[in-house]
Amino acid sequence: MDPDYYYRGYKKLLKTNFKNEGEIEMANVNFFCNEQIPLEMHKVRIVQKLELPPVERRLKAMNEAGNNTFLLKNRDVFMDMLTDSGVNAMSDRQQAAMLIADDSYAGSETFFRLESKLNEIFGMKYFLPAHQGRACENIISQTLVKPGMIVPMNYHFTTTKSHIVLNGGIVEELVSDAGLEPASTNLFKGNMDIAKLNTLIDKHGPDKIAFVRMEAGTNLIGGQPFSLENLEKVRSICDNYGITLVLDASLLADNLYFIKCREEQYTHASIKEITLKIASLCDIIYFSARKLGCARGGGICTSNTELFEKMRELVPLYEGFLTYGGMSVREMEALTVGLDETMDEDIISQGPQFIAFMVNELVKKGVPVITPPGGLGCHINAMEFLKHIPQDQYPAGALAAAFYIASGVRGMERGTMSEQRNPDGSEVLSNMELLRLAMPRRVYTLSQVKYAVDRMVWLYENRNLIEGLSFTEEPKILRFFFGRLKPVSNWQENLVAKFRKDFGDSL
Ligand code: F0G
Repeated sequence: MDPDYYYRGYKKLLKTNFKNEGEIEMANVNFFCNEQIPLEMHKVRIVQKLELPPVERRLKAMNEAGNNTFLLKNRDVFMDMLTDSGVNAMSDRQQAAMLIADDSYAGSETFFRLESKLNEIFGMKYFLPAHQGRACENIISQTLVKPGMIVPMNYHFTTTKSHIVLNGGIVEELVSDAGLEPASTNLFKGNMDIAKLNTLIDKHGPDKIAFVRMEAGTNLIGGQPFSLENLEKVRSICDNYGITLVLDASLLADNLYFIKCREEQYTHASIKEITLKIASLCDIIYFSARKLGCARGGGICTSNTELFEKMRELVPLYEGFLTYGGMSVREMEALTVGLDETMDEDIISQGPQFIAFMVNELVKKGVPVITPPGGLGCHINAMEFLKHIPQDQYPAGALAAAFYIASGVRGMERGTMSEQRNPDGSEVLSNMELLRLAMPRRVYTLSQVKYAVDRMVWLYENRNLIEGLSFTEEPKILRFFFGRLKPVSNWQENLVAKFRKDFGDSL
């Protein structure tokens, strides 16, 4: 395979986006020296100094954090690739907008500006604000899920599943088989398996289905998109049975970019047109504005008056008054601009293009990663990377700890540690064991990405030194957030010794 396939391949597709001579939809810059690298279509005007602690200090910090990257102090972190949530760089326009925030408790102009922007991009009548994505999940689940009801979805997200289960519901994951193949050439691994959805509804009857949920840029399987064609099929099944269709649009920006680049039918459509088309197929759209719109907050949109009125009751109870919903008005102003900027192809292409670059460099060096590259971040396949570590010793968690020690880069475990045990105490072994290296938008430079790649390649060469982890403190719910673990042997000291041997006195 062409070693630059994942990057060059998409560039090629982008080139087909010319409408007419001279009319370009997305910036497409070729390099004279034939190097293919993503070119930033922005410049940096505010910077934050970083520290890279030496490897011995990193080992100590990892132990103090109970081998859980969530518990690291940011002062010990060089590149924070834990998440893209609430940490994307804001634009000058977003920062400027924050100054005009109207902080009245009720009836704030800020709210009406945000409502009107959402109305413009989704074409939906109503908007309910909430403090972040999981708050929307709480409201939607309390409104629609009754004990014993099923929620079919392409794939779960941790907080989504917890809220559905809390309300007595059952999550059924119906992602296409390709979605769970770590290395694939399928460009829409987030698609719902339509046959499975039909079978499930036939088996249980539509009355038992609380709603169908589609997640854009499917997080836990590597930021993988669904196609518009697939969403249309899901809609038509929902229509047949009279079932509500809910879209989790937290990672919509990436999914929009992929529809534009990978779905032939939409290469000539604008991001705005694709967004409106998607929204027209859904009954409810909710999002974490920590991801969508590069701010901090969340919200629910719908045109269904009955659903709106039911959900509205819960907003003042859990979030805040209906014109702020727990969000800071400054963030709401930034969100309004951020949503507007999400319709700009040059802006939403930065994340996926940097991720494609990173994936491509790792593929060239033989490191097992999720392919095709998705949105959100680069996902290392820990099941393959650390074949020798059994799943109940958390290979993805061990890789996250090892990578921090080797590089000072903080990633996130997305595997068995992120699951919840069965009521009988047995482990729920995750379908995939991933180390997620999130790519906050416009935050890191290409040389920093190259540094992360370099250290990952070194770690892969030394993978036999890595062993598993075991819990010393294990919370019952969402244990990955604050659980503490220890290495099963002194493998981390051995890794540090090898680092010193190979890198001398380098940081
Ligand atoms: N849905 C998806 C697809 C998400 O990725 C997230 C958050 C949520 C819902 C919940 O939103 O955090 O604002 O409450 N994902 C973050 C992450 C936590 O790191 O991937 P939230």
